[in-house]
Amino acid sequence: MNAASITENASSKALERYYQFHSRIYDATRWSFLFGREEVLRRAARVCQPKRILEVGCGTGRNLVSLRKHFPEASITGVDLSEQMLGIAAAKMRDSKTTLLRRSYNAPVHENGEPYDLILFSYSLSMFNPGWEQAIAAAHGDLAAGGCVAVVDFSHSAFGWFSRWMGVNHVRMDAHLWPLLADHFTALLDERFRAYGGVWSYGMFLGRKLP
Ligand SMILES: C[S@@+](CC[C@H](N)C(=O)[O-])C[C@H]1O[C@@H](n2cnc3c(N)ncnc32)[C@H](O)[C@@H]1O
Repeated sequence: MNAASITENASSKALERYYQFHSRIYDATRWSFLFGREEVLRRAARVCQPKRILEVGCGTGRNLVSLRKHFPEASITGVDLSEQMLGIAAAKMRDSKTTLLRRSYNAPVHENGEPYDLILFSYSLSMFNPGWEQAIAAAHGDLAAGGCVAVVDFSHSAFGWFSRWMGVNHVRMDAHLWPLLADHFTALLDERFRAYGGVWSYGMFLGRKLP
């Protein structure tokens, strides 16, 4: 795990502290409300056969395991700022074609290397507060021409108490991600879905970077 390029700010420090505890209960609890994670990968696999994949905010590596099943030959990079979350991911992903980077995703990570063919944000962008605009721009810089971005995340809620509770958990629920994603990438899918009878909505976005 490469920790050299982590960038600290007040928000990323608060998130790191949050995940020091939540990493311990993450896999046991998040299946019950982080909907659409398998579906967005299934849909991505229909339009994209990537050789190089980046997951931004990979957390405990739940999606890295699925990505490896969908794309056995691909090289996969997971980026996250939480050492605890990455430690759990590292135990699941021991193959030589997987790399984990500990850093805040506020700039492209491919540097002088090859760009990625698929970039996944799964329930991470809504926690980039501040920084979601830079992260979308960074993904545009990290993606090869013709490559795909796949996003599944919280969108909005009609219930103020729920949005406030999500704010306590570092999640912004303003439906703010989707227009900017559509500005940067050609949308192949851009939809919202109701969760728990409409307590909140989550969204999926699949887009392509035009050549
Ligand atoms: C809700 S978890 C999602 C984990 C995984 N993608 C999933 O679907 O289960 C959000 C993850 O994003 C990471 N994260 C939040 N802000 C980040 C940032 N600026 N740079 C990198 N990772 C970040 C957190 O540390 C956390 O592991």
